[in-house]
Amino acid sequence: MTVDFDKITSLAKRRGFVFQGSEIYGGLNGTWDFGPLGVELLNNVKRAWWLSMTQLRDDVVGVDAAILMAPEVWRASGHVDTFTDPLVDCRQCKMRFRADQLDGGGRCPNCGGELTEPRQFNLMFKTFVGPVEEDAVTVYLRPETAQGIFVNFQNVQKATRRRLPFGIAQIGKSFRNEISPGNFFFRSREFEQMECEYFVSPAQAEDAYRAWIAERHRWYLDLGLKPESLRLREHERDELSHYSAGTTDVEFRFPWGWGELEGIANRTDFDLRRHGEFSGKDLSYADEVTGERYIPYVVEPSAGATRSMLAFLCDAYDEAEVNGETRAFLRLHQSLAPYKAAVLPLSKKEPLVAVAREVERALRPHFMITYDETQSIGKRYARQDEIGTPYCVTVDFDSLEDRAVTVRERDSMVQQRLPIADLVPALREKLEVTSG
Ligand code: GAP
Repeated sequence: MTVDFDKITSLAKRRGFVFQGSEIYGGLNGTWDFGPLGVELLNNVKRAWWLSMTQLRDDVVGVDAAILMAPEVWRASGHVDTFTDPLVDCRQCKMRFRADQLDGGGRCPNCGGELTEPRQFNLMFKTFVGPVEEDAVTVYLRPETAQGIFVNFQNVQKATRRRLPFGIAQIGKSFRNEISPGNFFFRSREFEQMECEYFVSPAQAEDAYRAWIAERHRWYLDLGLKPESLRLREHERDELSHYSAGTTDVEFRFPWGWGELEGIANRTDFDLRRHGEFSGKDLSYADEVTGERYIPYVVEPSAGATRSMLAFLCDAYDEAEVNGETRAFLRLHQSLAPYKAAVLPLSKKEPLVAVAREVERALRPHFMITYDETQSIGKRYARQDEIGTPYCVTVDFDSLEDRAVTVRERDSMVQQRLPIADLVPALREKLEVTSG
């Protein structure tokens, strides 16, 4: 199905997944607020990543480092000197563009006016630490979470007594003063990343790089992205970042074209070597078994949490005819769905509502669920289908007699009668079976 992006963005706003940041003040460009359903979906994406990276692996541990870091960090990392985009201005309409995103011609895409020569614009946001601006130290909001991991390499290695290879994972906000944020929240000025720095000996780097590419590709597929919506793209030599000996992007087919979800890079020993030089600390690693000492190489799978969330939303969007009416569905993987089930009494009559509330109370401690008793049952099913709820639990008049409910599955629409007493284990089993 060719997806109409406007339908996805309008569903996301209408149903409370995503709102423009500071909307009542006209919006702050490049910022987005995640609403009640959006925060659930985003948390589920991050939880799935954390689970696969830390809990399910013996060789990766987590950290949560500060967003504000010593300014030397960004000199060592190269961001102060090289984290720039080429900026051009239109002399006529004054709009600004990234020169590398213009498709030739040298004229303004808005009004056809003449453009200035490109100048390098640093994407890091600056702020001040200390009470008086003039005397205070200028610091940067981190443009990537990775550096919080590198500066803690030795702390973590010593605290956990790890031998290489091992990795450190982190999820958190990053900030970039993007020249042209856009495509909904694909390119934002404030966003979340999920990054892992995997420390290896130089000899292990190439194999680890290849293994992480396969592993990260599989993660998206396991969470339901269609194989044809994904591709791996290896960077050409002249495209590589200053630190990289090899980079492969996991790309997703967004409604406007292919876009990067994640980069997997062989960063060599660049990061620890530079931090060693700038901090004056010896960040080399001594292998007690082999007796070797070296500066570790790093393989980095670096994903966008918010950007992946957008991909999951786009890929899940579907339309189908139900009773002669075209309806929207979010066919989200169950582990990502904001609500796992909705409890729906067939009518608002008191005896039904009492049983429905009892079912709701039984489910709430176990699953993120919702309760809805307004409008017809058909409308309520439709509302749940379009936010991706995998199961609807309907309480009807027979429930008063047989103490059972009807469980309807979103995609197949198959209905099954289940005793209320068995509902928690039955739903758990359904959710586990299809989340595996
Ligand atoms: N530490 C390496 C690094 O940060 P990157 O390719 O600049 O690499 C990694 O960023 C991921 O972060 C991207 O693949 C993307 O998913 C996400 N990302 C980067 N800039 C973003 C932005 N402005 N808005 C949303 N996500 C962004």
